[in-house]
Amino acid sequence: MIELIHVKKEFDNLEVLSDISITINDHEIYGIIGQSGAGKSTLLRCINGLVSYDSGEIRVGGELVDIKDKKKLSLLQKRMGMIFQNFNLLNRLDVYDNVALPMKFWGIDTKSPEAIKKIKNLIELVGLSDKMHSLPRELSGGQKQRVAIARALVLDPEILLCDEATSALDPSITREILSLLQKINKEMGITIIVVTHQMEVVKQICERVSFLKDGRVLAEGKPEELFIKPIKEVKQFLQEESGHLPSDGVNIQLFFTDESSDEPVITKMARDLNIDYSICWGKLEDFRSNVFGSLVINVKNEDQDNICRYLDDKKVLWEVL
Ligand SMILES: Nc1ncnc2c1ncn2[C@@H]1O[C@H](COP(=O)(O)OP(=O)(O)OP(=O)(O)O)[C@@H](O)[C@H]1O
Ligand SMILES: [Mg+2]
Repeated sequence: MIELIHVKKEFDNLEVLSDISITINDHEIYGIIGQSGAGKSTLLRCINGLVSYDSGEIRVGGELVDIKDKKKLSLLQKRMGMIFQNFNLLNRLDVYDNVALPMKFWGIDTKSPEAIKKIKNLIELVGLSDKMHSLPRELSGGQKQRVAIARALVLDPEILLCDEATSALDPSITREILSLLQKINKEMGITIIVVTHQMEVVKQICERVSFLKDGRVLAEGKPEELFIKPIKEVKQFLQEESGHLPSDGVNIQLFFTDESSDEPVITKMARDLNIDYSICWGKLEDFRSNVFGSLVINVKNEDQDNICRYLDDKKVLWEVL
């Protein structure tokens, strides 16, 4: 478990993290999303002790992250692998040697049969067995990130920290890398923290997510909870508008969750209540394996009460706009 308790951090009198409290469970894929400058990278770097925090506590598996205790910190850092947007590979080393690098740093004999087996297995896991001795310049962006992932796993970390790991990649390669992260999470049980400004990333793999703005967590929950019915700030971030809605009658937004999304609720409602409605706006979203949706309908003023009672009865979430 990773616990952040009232964490604060300033850079040059500018508060970059303001009272952050979040708990990330073991084996979870947790997202941190927000605009540029929100403090996402700083938060991640505080977790693995690359930067210090001013007050509060960060605990990883119960151990306090304390930048002053160098020896303890470096043992803690060994338990956390990290990958970045720009891959951070060493250009003069081939794939194999890049993956082996953290072992060398820790004085582990990379020529031992166990080490060789482990490095080769990881390269195979990330799908690069045929590129074992290629140099970074001979690889595509997606392949470079695969090398970085293998390298981040070579010391058997419990946690993988990903800072905008897919931001430099195109959408189809992004999906492949995210699937690989999901596989690593499932098969190796590694906890993954994903920092991103891309909603698609969070939707595809995160079980829970925090929305960060100006160093504060403004919303936390399952991605579908955050994005289907977003608070004002998340809506602004998504730059999503329901468009121009009719000024006559009442506009009601309906939210379909996994239990209700398959039912033709609206047509049934129109029949049951003998009412007319018009559809103003609608959207379906894929969240991991679930589909969620939201729909804005326009109805007559006099039908509003009946409709809202009906929707409550059918357990459909709604909001009058
Ligand atoms: N080493 C530093 N010294 C001074 N200020 C810093 C330092 N690192 C970050 N900051 C400031 O802290 C704030 C948060 O930066 P951070 O990099 O954490 O944001 P971010 O959410 O990761 O943004 P991006 O999406 O652009 O990567 C910014 O205002 C940034 O200028
Ligand atoms: Mg950043």
